[in-house]
Amino acid sequence: MTKILITGATGNVGRELTAQLPADAIRLLSRNPGADQSRPGLVGGPEVVGGDLGLPDGLGTALEGVDTVFLIWPFLSADAADGVLAEIGRRRVVYLSSSGVSEGHDDPINRMHAELERLVAAHAAEWTILRSNTIASNARGWAGQIRSTGVVRGPDIPATAVVHERDVASVAARALTSDGLNGERLVVTGPAVISRAEQVAAIGAAIGRELRFEAVAADDARAQMLADGRPAALVEALLANVGRPASGLVTTTVAGLTGVPARSFGAWAEERAGEFR
Ligand SMILES: NC(=O)c1ccc[n+]([C@@H]2O[C@H](COP(=O)([O-])OP(=O)(O)OC[C@H]3O[C@@H](n4cnc5c(N)ncnc54)[C@H](OP(=O)(O)O)[C@@H]3O)[C@@H](O)[C@H]2O)c1
Repeated sequence: MTKILITGATGNVGRELTAQLPADAIRLLSRNPGADQSRPGLVGGPEVVGGDLGLPDGLGTALEGVDTVFLIWPFLSADAADGVLAEIGRRRVVYLSSSGVSEGHDDPINRMHAELERLVAAHAAEWTILRSNTIASNARGWAGQIRSTGVVRGPDIPATAVVHERDVASVAARALTSDGLNGERLVVTGPAVISRAEQVAAIGAAIGRELRFEAVAADDARAQMLADGRPAALVEALLANVGRPASGLVTTTVAGLTGVPARSFGAWAEERAGEFR
């Protein structure tokens, strides 16, 4: 039986995806395959193999017996991507890209995704591109500030239709297991455009505490993010969004493919409330 290789399997989207696919149909890639990746409560979790997307030559074992790959790209540059796509070869690939590519955003992250999309289309036998909007789990990075001060300080990035990682995973599961989405570029969004202040307020409602978002000037935000140890390219990519008008991009991809409307950010915040208390 051929397998689906899930890269990024231990991440926000990947964990949701592995929970939606039969354990015996998938193989999970991780740089730390010895860590406990099994799904709690399930006997006989999926196979986990070691591999690093920065080291394409070492992916041979992970790809043995695999006909389909769910590919994420965890880097800020496309440098190793040609080697990885060459290693994957003439298989079917579902790549997790960014909705910023559809919107023509010219920043390091969206340039990287655009290049990955090009390489996937050039190498893969069959492919589907999922262009995801801002993933709700990014807000987990606010947990420390929320717990300690009740104020989230950050750059005033425009509102977008933030999408629940489970909905991204549900669309990915369909793209990986059905034949109808070959050659499609699907833009995956949440149900409504929501600002950072509204996200923070939704978390406050979920935990029963008044919280607020405080916009910080770009230079202060840059200095803080660099001091926090974030890579310079990521910092510049985030700041490239400051001052951009709010995106009106909302799609019905989730509902159209899964039959269930996209989850709201409020619903995500209620599920995750424990992390912010
Ligand atoms: N966040 C957003 O708003 C957004 C929007 C659009 C697209 N995306 C894309 O979605 C992707 C997945 O996001 P996520 O939030 O699910 O990820 P995440 O929670 O940050 O997890 C990162 C994943 O990447 C894996 N990884 C990191 N470095 C690796 C390497 N060198 N080789 C192999 N695997 C490596 C990690 O696996 P191990 O540690 O187990 O090796 C982990 O499973 C992102 O990389 C991004 O390109 C994100």
